[in-house]
Amino acid sequence: MTRPRILSGMRPTGPLHIGHLTGALDNWVRLQDTYECYWAIVDWHALTTDYASPAEIRANVLEVAIDFLAAGLDPARATLFVQSLVPEHAELHLLLSMVVPVSWLERVPSYKEQQQQLTEKDLSTYGFLGYPLLQSADIMIYKADAVPVGEDQAPHVELTREIVRRFNHLYGRPVFPEPKTLLTASPRIPGTDGRKMSKSYGNAIYLADPPEVTIPKVKTMVTDPARKRRRDPGNPDVCPVFDLHRIFTPEAPRAEVAQGCRTAAIGCLDCKGVLLERLVPPLDQIRERRTRFVEAPGRIREILHAGSARARERARETLAAAKVAVGIA
Ligand code: TRP
Ligand code: SF4
Repeated sequence: MTRPRILSGMRPTGPLHIGHLTGALDNWVRLQDTYECYWAIVDWHALTTDYASPAEIRANVLEVAIDFLAAGLDPARATLFVQSLVPEHAELHLLLSMVVPVSWLERVPSYKEQQQQLTEKDLSTYGFLGYPLLQSADIMIYKADAVPVGEDQAPHVELTREIVRRFNHLYGRPVFPEPKTLLTASPRIPGTDGRKMSKSYGNAIYLADPPEVTIPKVKTMVTDPARKRRRDPGNPDVCPVFDLHRIFTPEAPRAEVAQGCRTAAIGCLDCKGVLLERLVPPLDQIRERRTRFVEAPGRIREILHAGSARARERARETLAAAKVAVGIA
């Protein structure tokens, strides 16, 4: 019995934080039960924005691999691999570049957005324009049936479907299936300053943070700004701490906290204490697994090389079929 195949990827741009956990990894871990899974560390995608200072990418590949394994991605059941160790992605990217109109890439929403946001980087490059096409190649080279992603990535999967249709139509055979979007619920995950959690804002709680780092981060986290004194009632609906409760604290204690906040029966430190009771244990578990892998870097390399070799076998098959279709085999 063959299970439907899925693929998703993450760029190795730094250590992973709890936003990656709730926005992707927890979901990926669950999907391993029902799908044939490919989990990619997409270092070439990191290069599209960090080409001028690529030094960290290599170290980050290992960091992300450790975070993947610690979060529960399982190399015995899924294929964990590094994009640049499967050069077939690049060759398919090249073939696809022949058939994709430039205008399709220019109209991808993230293209102009990122160029405007990351003004410190020169993103007027060919590689950056091709970012979503490389992502399409990642997906197509495994003939993935579906792609688990958050809403922000849905346009990239939609573009992939259009490219699949165009390729199959041009070369007159169904080489690639059209991948579906498996939308991951991505709850708002605020950082300690209330803005979106992000490495670049310096407001993140990392999977590698020990409790002595996590606890003060939470204790100094911003709250409902209207709640200045202990006796002022607060509004959980505008409080970033409560956004974390929505993710980590079960319904009953969460309702109690909300009530306590609204009536000023509890203070913000009490509220944060309840959150920490729910946040610290799962992070402890991840960190414990993390240390085991950190102590065995050889083992991580082994996992990544074995996974990439396995990915490569499948990628070779697809690439061969694509070349036959194009007529340059
Ligand atoms: N663009 C994705 C992101 O930034 C990463 C990615 C690269 C990806 N290739 C992929 C995601 C293939 C899904 C499938 O999150
Ligand atoms: Fe936010 Fe909790 Fe303070 Fe209410 S009690 S303002 S929810 S931190």
